[in-house]
Amino acid sequence: KEFPEYVEGIVRGDPGGFVLTPHYGEHAEELYNFHVRPDDIWVLSFPKSGTTWTQELVWLIANDCDFEGAKRSLNDRSPFLEFPYLLPRKGTPTYGHLPSVEKQMQYREELESPRLIKTHLPLDLLPPQLTETCKVVYVARNPKDVIVSYYYHHKLIKFHYFDGDLESFARWFMNDQVWYAPFFGQVLAAWEKAKNDPNVLFLFYEDLKKDLEGQIRKVAQFLGKSLTDEQLGKLVHHLTFENLSKNSAVNKEDGKKHGVFNADGSFMRKGETGDWQRYFSPEMSRQIDEWTELNLRGSDITFVDKI
Ligand code: A3P
Repeated sequence: KEFPEYVEGIVRGDPGGFVLTPHYGEHAEELYNFHVRPDDIWVLSFPKSGTTWTQELVWLIANDCDFEGAKRSLNDRSPFLEFPYLLPRKGTPTYGHLPSVEKQMQYREELESPRLIKTHLPLDLLPPQLTETCKVVYVARNPKDVIVSYYYHHKLIKFHYFDGDLESFARWFMNDQVWYAPFFGQVLAAWEKAKNDPNVLFLFYEDLKKDLEGQIRKVAQFLGKSLTDEQLGKLVHHLTFENLSKNSAVNKEDGKKHGVFNADGSFMRKGETGDWQRYFSPEMSRQIDEWTELNLRGSDITFVDKI
């Protein structure tokens, strides 16, 4: 498979293309050729879709409910593939206190097996042999809650330099001007892939909210793991929003220490489905519905935006 040409020369907000940093653009081919191992597990998603939640769930199942081991930072246990290329280049004031880009990439390559890798990149920009080589869990969330959550995320992360209001943000989102846009492009590609590929499991955030235990069973079956009732009970307890948001190995509060996050706000914000109802006017909600309908024409995926 040829490396997709449209990735070259990415600039933020470039209409019609996949949006990420120019720094990523310089390294896109390197990530496309990232060496995949057969015992890797990858967690894929559009940002703010429940990635961290899914990573912790998958890590614990893959590691036979090693709650002691899960006290290490999730960022170390399950690195975010392209993160080093999202950061401003070294020397800019918000680079923070993180290891060098080279060291971070070396960590991803040399991590002990079985690795659990997180990425928000669309399937098209990931190693073409990914799903035939290893297991992939994709998690999706309804676009309205993603927009609200992503808006607050932009306010939290220093290097977004974001100071806009939610309505403008929602428009940028729908105009494919935010990082990782277009939203539907990547979700629908993963949805179609999961239909015919037994190595791809497609989850919804809303199902995790509604029936966490059922989704844990599903992931365990997908990974070929069996869980005792006691382990299942412990996992459900560990993975509730209340507990995960207080868990310093997972809640990313260390982003403040590393100088990547602003002091106000939290990565683990509300953890609800339907939070968008507090923010969007009926008109805004209607516009998002219209945009969603247009993009889902011809697809059999269904998003639930209230439970
Ligand atoms: P909110 O901003 O709506 O609260 P990601 O990890 O993909 O960036 O997604 C982050 C979103 O998942 C945040 O949404 C966060 O609060 C939510 N989240 C994380 N852990 C959760 C949990 N255990 N239960 C419900 N939501 C959770």
